[in-house]
Amino acid sequence: MTRTPVNVTVTGAAGQIGYALLFRIASGHLLGADVPVKLRLLEIPQGMKAAEGTAMELDDCAFPLLKGIDIFDDPNKGFEGANVALLVGARPRTAGMERGDLLSANGGIFKPQGAAINAHAADDIKVLVVGNPANTNALIAQAAAPDVPAERFTAMTRLDHNRAISQLAKKTGADVTDIKRLTIWGNHSATQYPDVFHAEIAGKNAAEVVNDELWLADTFIPTVAKRGAAIIDARGASSAASAANAAIDHVHTWVNGTAAGDWTSMGIPSDGSYGVPEGIISSFPVTTKDGKYEIVQGLDINEFSRARIDASVAELVEERDAVRELGLL
Ligand code: NAD
Ligand code: LMR
Repeated sequence: MTRTPVNVTVTGAAGQIGYALLFRIASGHLLGADVPVKLRLLEIPQGMKAAEGTAMELDDCAFPLLKGIDIFDDPNKGFEGANVALLVGARPRTAGMERGDLLSANGGIFKPQGAAINAHAADDIKVLVVGNPANTNALIAQAAAPDVPAERFTAMTRLDHNRAISQLAKKTGADVTDIKRLTIWGNHSATQYPDVFHAEIAGKNAAEVVNDELWLADTFIPTVAKRGAAIIDARGASSAASAANAAIDHVHTWVNGTAAGDWTSMGIPSDGSYGVPEGIISSFPVTTKDGKYEIVQGLDINEFSRARIDASVAELVEERDAVRELGLL
């Protein structure tokens, strides 16, 4: 049976993440090796020519699953019929900036995009916000789309999740595939909390395997939380291929499910679980099945974790209040 292509809208298609992302979407890594896709690229007028160049390269790959590419500079057209929307287009931070410094610059992009999703996307739309500050941009877009179920708006903390797995594997000599149930809590910012207390390494509790609280507090957590800045410092530009890879992982897991016994991290609208105020978009441990996610419930949160989760959540509440002041909510 021939499947109907899935419409995937990518904003910021001419940017560096866009360039690392589009070829993997077209080759089947986002949704599955048997799922045809149509790409809808959204750019600003200055980015249209470069997006056309990328589209020419996509054509030149003759991807069997790619059933069409359209390019727009109008969000109302770009989100028409979208089943999946990857909101990447935004200004990246440069050396010396925190992601929160981008609030006013990038907040203005996400309100009209949320409204366009509300008016034109398909009923089953799933949205991933990558553009920073990702959690609060997702909140802005979600607030502008009252007819779309709030849980369809998610923010990317999968890059942090993958970074944490990699650092833990290096420290313990384990293979990355042996590490399960790691959690990123809170904001995609320097306050985020990568939690190993419920994680497992080859079936053993990760905190017990590490057995070094000082390393956790002084090396592991800051290395993961400040990795974005370290990459900007080293590359002179913010992470691109690893960010694109994480976006692929996020949507693939959301659509195709988490493995038995494992979970992932996603920035999602809080339902009040774990004392996180309802409504803000915060990262939680989630399992996914049949295109839906659920927060993992019943985890014991120790004092070490509680203080760190609370600090990151407090920052999200401040960001929400700041964008409210700016009239973006
Ligand atoms: P980039 O500057 O290379 O590309 C951004 C692109 O977005 C440009 O082509 C620009 O023309 C386009 N754009 C700007 N406004 C737009 C709009 N309103 N509609 C459509 N397109 C628009 O930036 P990049 O390196 O690709 O990064 C994009 C965003 O992703 C930044 O905000 C960056 O901080 C963020 N990021 C997030 C994560 C994460 O883990 N959540 C990781 C890496 C980067
Ligand atoms: C990252 O984590 O690499 C991105 O959010 C880019 C940044 O500004 O840190």
